[in-house]
Amino acid sequence: MASPQYRLAIFASGNGSNAEAIIQYFKNHPSIKVALVLSNNPEAFVLQRAKNAGIRAITFTREEYRQPGKLIHELSLENITHIVLAGFLWLVPDYLIKLYPDRIVNIHPALLPKFGGKGMYGSRVHEAVKLAGETETGITIHLVNEHYDDGRILFQASCPVEARHSPSDIAKCVLELEHKHYPQVIESWIATPRSAG
Ligand code: GAR
Repeated sequence: MASPQYRLAIFASGNGSNAEAIIQYFKNHPSIKVALVLSNNPEAFVLQRAKNAGIRAITFTREEYRQPGKLIHELSLENITHIVLAGFLWLVPDYLIKLYPDRIVNIHPALLPKFGGKGMYGSRVHEAVKLAGETETGITIHLVNEHYDDGRILFQASCPVEARHSPSDIAKCVLELEHKHYPQVIESWIATPRSAG
């Protein structure tokens, strides 16, 4: 069998349940392979998940991230064609955006442009949604540019928010949507980059 044409690197900072859903979805895929997992956090559970799946995983420091050398070397060693952010909390540096124009995708746990920007991640987002009295929230999958949560939106899906829902109820609904949709949206974005979503 010919080797997959598209090779993904997943950047993640924590638990990695989205990374896991993506890894499982593309296992045995004919044209897309998850080839590398990268984390800024040496304690992140995503590293264990990668290891369990037989995928190479590496960590990097803030300094290594800021300078192009190490990351570009690692990404080119694996012939990475697309980058997927899955619960990754640092702003993507310009050198990566230039190297992967329109080929970096992110998932955000709210309906952007609401509840995005610096400092808005994980449970903080759901707490802000609750505090604002929103009646719905959801997920946004978007291309990455040099600003937080700002690139072209590929896909959104929503969850109802009722008075009885706590931030952790909201988180559960959002995470289920993420696992259901992120792998498929990545697949269609790669296959037809201009029309995904
Ligand atoms: C996900 O809900 C993702 O949308 C969010 O972090 C969580 C990671 O969960 N990302 C952000 O908040 C980025 N601003 P996971 O590690 O279990 O995939």
